[in-house]
Amino acid sequence: MENKGALSVVLYLCLNVFVMADTVYGDASYSFPEEMKHGSVIGNIAKDLGLDVNRLSVRKARVDTEGNPKNYCDINVNTGELTVAERIDREGLCGKKATCVIKQELVLENPLELHRVSFNIQDINDNSPVFTNDVIRLEIRESADKGATFPLDPAHDADIGENSVQGYVLQRNEHFVLNVNTNLYGLKYSELVLDKELDREKEQELSLILTAVDGGTPPRSGTVAIHVTVLDANDNAPVFSQSVYKVSLPENSPLDTVVVTVGATDSDDGVNGEVMYAFDHISEKNRELFSLNAKSGEISLIGPVDFEEETTFELQIQAKDGPGLATYSKVVIDVIDINDNAPVILLKSLNSPVPENVLPGTEVGIINVQDRDSEKNRQVQCTVQQNVPFKLVPSIKNYYSLVTTGELDRELVSDYNITITATDEGSPPLSSSKTIHLSVADVNDNPPVFEEQIYSAHVKENNKPGSSVCTVAATDPDWRQNGTVVYSLLPSDVRGAPVSSFVSINGDTGVIHAVRSFDYEQLKSFKVLVLARDNGSPPLSSNVTVSVFISDENDNSPQILYPSPEGNSFMTEMVPKAAQSGSLVSKVIAVDADSGQNAWLSYHIVKATHPGLFTIGEHSGEIRTQRDISESDSTKQNLIVSVKDNGQPSLSATCAVYLLISDNLAEIPELKDMSYDESSSKLTFYLIIALVSVSTFFLTFIIIILAVRFCHRRKPRLLFDGAVAIPSAYLPPNYAEVKEAGTLRSTYNYDAYLTTGSRTSDFKFVTSYNEGPLPVDLTLKKDKSVENLMGCAGNEFESVTQDISEY
Ligand SMILES: *[C@@H]1O[C@H](CO)[C@@H](O)[C@H](O)[C@H]1NC(C)=O
Ligand SMILES: *[C@@H]1O[C@H](CO)[C@@H](O)[C@H](O)[C@H]1NC(C)=O
Ligand SMILES: *[C@@H]1O[C@H](CO)[C@@H](O)[C@H](O)[C@H]1NC(C)=O
Repeated sequence: MENKGALSVVLYLCLNVFVMADTVYGDASYSFPEEMKHGSVIGNIAKDLGLDVNRLSVRKARVDTEGNPKNYCDINVNTGELTVAERIDREGLCGKKATCVIKQELVLENPLELHRVSFNIQDINDNSPVFTNDVIRLEIRESADKGATFPLDPAHDADIGENSVQGYVLQRNEHFVLNVNTNLYGLKYSELVLDKELDREKEQELSLILTAVDGGTPPRSGTVAIHVTVLDANDNAPVFSQSVYKVSLPENSPLDTVVVTVGATDSDDGVNGEVMYAFDHISEKNRELFSLNAKSGEISLIGPVDFEEETTFELQIQAKDGPGLATYSKVVIDVIDINDNAPVILLKSLNSPVPENVLPGTEVGIINVQDRDSEKNRQVQCTVQQNVPFKLVPSIKNYYSLVTTGELDRELVSDYNITITATDEGSPPLSSSKTIHLSVADVNDNPPVFEEQIYSAHVKENNKPGSSVCTVAATDPDWRQNGTVVYSLLPSDVRGAPVSSFVSINGDTGVIHAVRSFDYEQLKSFKVLVLARDNGSPPLSSNVTVSVFISDENDNSPQILYPSPEGNSFMTEMVPKAAQSGSLVSKVIAVDADSGQNAWLSYHIVKATHPGLFTIGEHSGEIRTQRDISESDSTKQNLIVSVKDNGQPSLSATCAVYLLISDNLAEIPELKDMSYDESSSKLTFYLIIALVSVSTFFLTFIIIILAVRFCHRRKPRLLFDGAVAIPSAYLPPNYAEVKEAGTLRSTYNYDAYLTTGSRTSDFKFVTSYNEGPLPVDLTLKKDKSVENLMGCAGNEFESVTQDISEY
């Protein structure tokens, strides 16, 4: 304050000089700053007006104000100085006026004098700049450009001139600078200039301090806060969280499955930041499969997805904020294959029927396997069921050849149901199967087979021509004509005649018919070769032997060889008188061309001179004395012997046997024709022996000749033939029987004795060789053939001759 006072004084002195110059007009005028202290001297008015100081009090000098009760100054009547009486506030008195003058009057009495005194009040900087409001609130859109200006309310300063607001200062910040202007009225004001764009998304509000400064000395200032609210502009498009959404979706997923949720954020505020989702561009088909929730961004499934139809979906999606700023993204949906397709088996070709003779490994068909799935789910394994001779051989890609693994035989299995199963490798695996029907075609690979390996037929002799002999049957399992059997006879000879003159065969039925009537005594058996042939091309055949055995019928009567049926007296037998009971006196020899029972002869004496004297062996034909001969017996004895066979009905023959009971031929006068000497019975006996021997040898010789001739025709190898004088036709057939027909062969014994008239010796002409079973070798020989049998018959004669030679 002291300083201030001193300053005022200096100011006052200067002004005073100026005031002096004005006094000329009789008025006084003073300039001084406002707000001087009470009592401060403004000037010496007495001096300035040339008034007598001493008289001031007398003249009651005073300061008066016209119409104004306030006296801003007083006059010191002792010194004539004007002093400040009242606080003088220029702003209060004059406001913003550039000059502020207070008019007062100095009144003097005695004489009344009136002087006008004007005070020119000078401003001092006693007011600071002041802003109207405490806070300046601004709202600036973030989209405002750089350089945009925002005028601020000016600050006001009650002072004037230099003491009023001279400038503004803005707190340092990164967005705004300050621009200070003067308006039309000289008022300084400021405006914010955007130096760097705002971003609401970074800073929503800014606070700045603005300071207004006046020009006083010292200057005064006032501050105000500027509060800037950054308003949002839709300057941000939504941003997707991913540029591409890649998801995988198993096919056949249930409806309403959420495939993916897309998300976009918009940093803008309010509507500008409200994001809505939509498909940008979507095909009709995809629209039926997927839906997009506009708000949540969930893409869900609304239709069936089939991997086999489409493996990938690409959906363009869009996110848009309220005003319509949009961004785009893409959703890629990879469909995952599920094993939902079973393999499909396709039969591409089939060679059916397949001939049964194809080699193993022959391709009979081609199949193709398809599976619509992918990867493992379409890897297919193909198998054929176990029990068929077929297998699958993998070929190119999914093709398989169906080939045979073994031989086929239509006769065993004529068709196959081949079941092929295809299984994929999915989990769980799916499979399907297909049954292929394959027929096997026939090949003529089976010859006819006879039901029996050997057929034997038995036919009675004297059969009717055309009667059936037997039936052969052959089967052929082949198909149709390949299995149709036709029978025929293979040409052969039977006794020099073609077999067809004996039998014929029905080609269809296999029934063998006799062509002629057979004669057992001529032909006991023969063989026929029957051929069975199928109708294949080429045909197959097989043959079988049919042995035809002709069986005997009793169609031959016994033939009496001895004694000659024509009762020859020469054949009289001598019976010694001394013959005792049981002596063999003669023997009836008979043969029967038949065989077996039909040739089994029995001998009976049907008539005798002396019944009871002789008996005949029922089967041997030996005539023996039944008792000792007595003298009374008549010397001539006749016997009628009947020979019967055992056939049904039996046939018989009779003969007469003449017996002479005598020791000497001469004793019988009746027998004149007897050529031997009765008197010399001993000589006669020897003669007879010699005669018989000679005739026996002669007979043997004849028989040998005959037999040689006979066997030359039949069997030239035979050495001896016809050892006895019995025509071969008369031989009992069982001597030359084949085994099959000779059931009675060993049961019956045939002893043939040729006795001579000799009383002393029995001549065993033919020994019995049937007393036991036949020697094995003989039996075997006899089994060979008809011709052999005939030969065997010859052999028997051979043994007969051997027997003879023993004697
Ligand atoms: C094959 O199948 C058919 C019909 O499915 C059937 O009639 C036939 O008997 C079968 N054949 C074989 C050899 O199983
Ligand atoms: C008979 O077999 C032949 C081959 O040997 C064959 O060609 C033919 O087709 C067969 N006939 C029938 C009816 O199966
Ligand atoms: C009869 O069959 C046999 C084999 O069984 C054969 O060796 C023979 O040649 C056949 N005969 C004829 C005439 O076909």
